[in-house]
Amino acid sequence: MRINVLTLFPEMFSAVTGSILGKAAEKGLLEFNFINIRDFSNDKHKKADDYPFGGGPGMVMLADPIFGALNSIDAKGKKCIYMSPRGKVLNQTMIQELSQEGELTILCGHYEGVDQRVLDYWEMEEVSIGDYVLTGGELAAMVLIDSVARLIPGVLAGEDSAMEESIYSGLLEYPQYTKPRSYEGMDVPEVLVSGNHKLIRLWKFEQSLELTKKNRPDLFDTFVKNHGDFTKDEQKVLEKVLK
Ligand code: ADE
Repeated sequence: MRINVLTLFPEMFSAVTGSILGKAAEKGLLEFNFINIRDFSNDKHKKADDYPFGGGPGMVMLADPIFGALNSIDAKGKKCIYMSPRGKVLNQTMIQELSQEGELTILCGHYEGVDQRVLDYWEMEEVSIGDYVLTGGELAAMVLIDSVARLIPGVLAGEDSAMEESIYSGLLEYPQYTKPRSYEGMDVPEVLVSGNHKLIRLWKFEQSLELTKKNRPDLFDTFVKNHGDFTKDEQKVLEKVLK
C-alpha cells in the first residue's frame, strides 16, 4: 500500500517510520510519501495559511499549496482522507475497508482547518479519531496509518496476530500471561498451563465476555444480539456471563 501524507510537520512522522511500520516499508509492504505542504507555497515567505473570510478565531490553511501538493501526486479520483474532529469517527470496520486500498492520501490540518474548497474539489472523506480536539491532524493520521497498516498481510511478525478467531470478534481481548508461572506471589491461572485446549479456549471466551460486559456494555449487547453459532459449551459460558 502506498500512503501519501500531506502535512506542515513531516518530521513528526519519524514516529511511524522508526517503528514496525518502518520495517514493513523496508520489506516493500508499505510505501510512505511524506509531503511538506509548505514546499508548494508560491508565497516568498512560504505562507500556508491566512485569516478566515467572515472573521472568527485562528487561521485557515490555504487552498493553493494543498492543490499543488495533491496535483503533484495525481490524487484526483483516488481515496483522500482529511483528519478532522468533525469527521466520521474511526472504527475497526472503517480500518478494515481502508486496508483494502492500494493507495491512501491523508491530509493533516492545522490551525482552524482548511479552505473548504480543498475538501469539496478533492472529495475528501473527513475522519476523526475521537471526540476530542488535537492541535493538528498529524497524531490522528498516525493512529489511522498504524491501525490500517497492521492489517496488511506480512506487516506484523506473527502473520495472523491481527486476525482474531471469529468467536472473539467484537469482544475485548482476554488477559494474557507469560513466564514466570509465579511472580511476586501471583500465579498464572491454572487452566492456561493445563494443556487442555478446549478448556483454555472456553476460559479465554469467558474472560473476553466478562471484560466486554464490564468495560464496553455497548459492544457486549451487539455481540449477544448478532452471534448465533456457538457450540453447546460456548453457549453455556455465554449464559453464565449473562446471569
Ligand atoms: N484533528 C484535530 N483533532 C482531531 C481528531 N479528534 N481526529 C482527527 N483529526 C483531528
